[in-house]
Amino acid sequence: MQLQVHPSKAELATTLCETLVKHSVEAIESNGVFLLAVSGGSIPKMLSLDNLTSAFASAGVRANLEKWVVFLADERIVSDDSLDSNLLALRKDGFIGGLGGEEGRCKCYGIEGFGEKSPAEIAQAYEDDLISALPKSGGKFDTVVLGMGEDGHTCSLFPGHDLVDNPKPGKMVDFITDSPKNPPERITLTMDVLNASRHGIFAAAGAGKAAVLGEIFVKEGKEYKFKQPRTTYPCGMVTTEDLVWLVDEAAA
Ligand code: 6PG
Repeated sequence: MQLQVHPSKAELATTLCETLVKHSVEAIESNGVFLLAVSGGSIPKMLSLDNLTSAFASAGVRANLEKWVVFLADERIVSDDSLDSNLLALRKDGFIGGLGGEEGRCKCYGIEGFGEKSPAEIAQAYEDDLISALPKSGGKFDTVVLGMGEDGHTCSLFPGHDLVDNPKPGKMVDFITDSPKNPPERITLTMDVLNASRHGIFAAAGAGKAAVLGEIFVKEGKEYKFKQPRTTYPCGMVTTEDLVWLVDEAAA
């Protein structure tokens, strides 16, 4: 695990995009696709097409977005045009929107058009999509880009929630109907799927994150380490093969 402190949110976003470009090149070389999960909140804006285009340019590689397969790490169950929709945020502020009519160039799985379907049915349909996509990348996400809430949640995995304390074995996508953060109905990748991923990148900016970060990490010399025993905040329970926390100075 590495925790990097960036002077500003903008610099954090630059590193996030550069890291994704690197992961995409490695993944496409190995499997021909880059399977990525992206959270909502402030992350779609950090992943704007401009930011990614600069990252491709500084790495000196061709933009390979037609090989990206994108899932939402969690999604709110709202109407397709709701401002709370993470898919809409990724289209409006993130790189998906920047592709305009070329959206089909990059395959993005969101939840839309579900009408009256129940949260359980929506979660199952999303899990089925994931099951069909995973074999192409060797059975796991290449990268999950995660945010943290000020209460220590990540995706829609909230502290003390049954989904975290009593996970259902083998479940990759689950749902909640009692989210402490609005809106209440959501689907989310499970901790098991996050932890099976090759790379995890957290992006956390702002002073509101400092208190929980201070309970998860301890600084030893110049390095940050997980406090022992490990935290029970969901964001601190993520342990991918390779894990990077990108924070800004305010959060650190
Ligand atoms: C959601 C998000 C959520 C988010 C965190 C951090 O749909 O609510 O995916 O898990 O990542 O709440 O949000 P910020 O980055 O906006 O602080």
